[in-house]
Amino acid sequence: MTKKLTILGSTGSIGRNLLEIVAQFPDRFQVRALAAKSNARLLAKQVEHFSPQVAVVYDAESARALYEALPDNHPVTILTGEAGYFEAATISEVDTVVTAVVGAAGLLPTLAAIDAGKEIALANKETLVMAGDLVMKRAAAAHVRILPIDSEHSAIFQCLQGQRRADVDRIILTASGGPFLNTPPEKLVTIQPADALDHPTWRMGSKISIDSATLMNKGLEVIEAHWLFNAPLDAMKVVVHPQSIIHSMVAFRDGSVIAQMGIPDMKGAIAYALSYPERLPLKQPLPDFAALESLTFGKPDLERFPCLALAFRAGKTGHTLPAVMNAANEVAVDAFLNERIPFLKIPQVIGAVMDRHDVVTDPTLTDILAADRSARRSAQTLIDA
Ligand SMILES: NC(=O)c1ccc[n+]([C@@H]2O[C@H](COP(=O)([O-])OP(=O)(O)OC[C@H]3O[C@@H](n4cnc5c(N)ncnc54)[C@H](OP(=O)(O)O)[C@@H]3O)[C@@H](O)[C@H]2O)c1
Repeated sequence: MTKKLTILGSTGSIGRNLLEIVAQFPDRFQVRALAAKSNARLLAKQVEHFSPQVAVVYDAESARALYEALPDNHPVTILTGEAGYFEAATISEVDTVVTAVVGAAGLLPTLAAIDAGKEIALANKETLVMAGDLVMKRAAAAHVRILPIDSEHSAIFQCLQGQRRADVDRIILTASGGPFLNTPPEKLVTIQPADALDHPTWRMGSKISIDSATLMNKGLEVIEAHWLFNAPLDAMKVVVHPQSIIHSMVAFRDGSVIAQMGIPDMKGAIAYALSYPERLPLKQPLPDFAALESLTFGKPDLERFPCLALAFRAGKTGHTLPAVMNAANEVAVDAFLNERIPFLKIPQVIGAVMDRHDVVTDPTLTDILAADRSARRSAQTLIDA
């Protein structure tokens, strides 16, 4: 059967990798909608190649740019803004919606897709960080499957195949440690965006690259895994594994540990989410174990990388605090990328915004979105001060 796809975030790192897989298996996948924010040139190329019926960009200016970048009389329907993303996420004949936009922008279209009964291939971890309880409940109510694209979550998902949840003792997420794993504290003071964007093992978008450098990415992933696998925060462990060959592990109550391995490349995880439970003949290289010589493991340094501790705190508190942490992180990362704050200010801003937040228990979607907005204002005020 050909799976019909909507790809939200098609011009990003995940989106581009995913479209390579779609191009490799044209009999298996058809693209019905592509959505980006403003990269009209790349989106136009993707539209020409994959012939979706709908293409979405954020605003009218990007829509004009997309229209001009396409050949005359191209039949694609160009839509804009929230309404456009919703329409793309709910096209009736689409089977799977891939959520590969970055940040909080992923939440509402993902919820719309769930409510429309679409299977979700989820890269956008911020969706579950902000509103994991609500999203998982809506998915259960709509009998919708959420298949992880994040490599750690794909690994955990793979390790859990054929296992009883009751037998799981703990989930062990591996972290590369990012580009500053061995950087002494005094050198962290002067880090520039270009240094932080230079990840040793993964090629990714700018926001997730900075999150990897602060270890916030691992914190977001811990919360994401907590919701995806219905596992308590206390059962989540993080281990630093700089080679990124083991993508994550699950430990069982008899002392067995199952690990999922592969080269550090997102294609395997993306393909598994698209073709589950089948595996596609991707022709990916295997890890060259003999050449690797050793796989190493260590403890994350929560003093040098306080974002991971902040994320555990947010996850354990729950309710609106993870959404607040996520929003403050987005604003702080953007400020760092624009050289408005130094690297070490990122966790300070997030921590201060979390401290100021009055947690709303059992939040509705409206409460979560209000917490997100207020945290953004609060973070911006701290940055501007
Ligand atoms: N990259 C990885 O290897 C990786 C691995 C695991 C998980 N993830 C997760 O996957 C998500 C995407 O990451 P990425 O690295 O692919 O990001 P990216 O390269 O920055 O791409 C982001 C995509 O989202 C679009 N976008 C940005 N802001 C938007 C908005 N407000 N509304 C609608 N679309 C918007 C971008 O469009 P434009 O190009 O037009 O700006 C682009 O298509 C993130 O949540 C990340 O944590 C990524």
